[in-house]
Amino acid sequence: MAELQNISLARGAPSLDIVAVGDLRASADRAFERDPNAAFSYGTSAGHTRLLAWLAEKHGVGPEQVVVTNGSMQADAFLFQQTVAPGDVVVVEAPTYDRTLLSLRKLGAEVLAIPLEPDGIDVDALAQALEGGARPRLAHIIPNFQNPAGYTLSLEKRRRLLELAGQQEFLIFEDDPYVELRFAGEPLPTMLSLDDGAGRVVYASSFSKTVCPGIRVGYLVGSQELIGHIRKLATDTYISPSMVSQAIVAEFCESGAIGRSIEAVKDALRERRDATCAALREQIPEASFVVPEGGYFLWVDLPEGADVARLASACLERGVSFVKGTDFLLEGGENSFRIAYSGVTPDQIEEAIGRVAEAWRELAAAAA
Ligand SMILES: Cc1ncc(COP(=O)(O)O)c(C=O)c1O
Repeated sequence: MAELQNISLARGAPSLDIVAVGDLRASADRAFERDPNAAFSYGTSAGHTRLLAWLAEKHGVGPEQVVVTNGSMQADAFLFQQTVAPGDVVVVEAPTYDRTLLSLRKLGAEVLAIPLEPDGIDVDALAQALEGGARPRLAHIIPNFQNPAGYTLSLEKRRRLLELAGQQEFLIFEDDPYVELRFAGEPLPTMLSLDDGAGRVVYASSFSKTVCPGIRVGYLVGSQELIGHIRKLATDTYISPSMVSQAIVAEFCESGAIGRSIEAVKDALRERRDATCAALREQIPEASFVVPEGGYFLWVDLPEGADVARLASACLERGVSFVKGTDFLLEGGENSFRIAYSGVTPDQIEEAIGRVAEAWRELAAAAA
């Protein structure tokens, strides 16, 4: 019998075929020839000068308002280290990125989870919590193609969040690694741009989804004062981030290779999203989901009472993995799971969802 191929719908990462390996090699060649000193020496903790300038221009800020880090995960860690003390209240979306929950728990923050709706965080529920006396230090928001739900925050809610942040003096942490991966619908302005320099927003993004995750380059944009503190933290932590990586990314951006890479990634993701939705509709018609307009993820709700933990084990036996909804929540999510379609081809998706459907029907039959 042919060996069962393992298929992961769990990893939020691209497959190798959508990484622009040729353009990366050419960017590395040029970076090492053109300015070897910038690539091979220690830099400063602020980041590679040309990449800082490119990012500052992209976001319409001064370079002193940007710090480039080893992946945006490092940026998140510095930001939390700088702004969150034990007992501080931090607003998160429910569900949210599991690593955010882990980091905040480690720091001893009090996590205030506010439900996520298909058009973003429930701003009325947040306003109610604020009226009830909640005084958050920070609100962590993933505005585009959210991890794990794939939902996008509406323009109206972006404005309302800024209003609430202004009234109650908390900082919005706009965590936006998927913004460039929109393959349907109209792009929306970042809260950073809507804030227009008022200092209510600190913004993070990454080259993990537009170049490749292995390059480990991400960044923060914020007030000069906050970024100054974070640069100091970064110096004390690692002197400077990887200048080899940043020199390659600077070339990749300046040469226009990034535009080609984003287009290729979006084409593949659109196809993968379509295959996922079609397979779910056909093979698990009782599953409900919102069709994402971009990004890597789709959130599946099974009917109330469904036991996704058992389904996950049954799927593992069939060589398919996904992440259980409970991993992204402090409570609830037992009948939900996240599909990452970023790392699998349409054929693999169809096969994997077929196996999930088989496991789901078998469990349902055993329970009947
Ligand atoms: C919402 C969110 N923030 C941050 C990250 C970390 O990204 P990076 O690879 O830039 O560290 C991820 C990665 O999946 C993510 O989904």
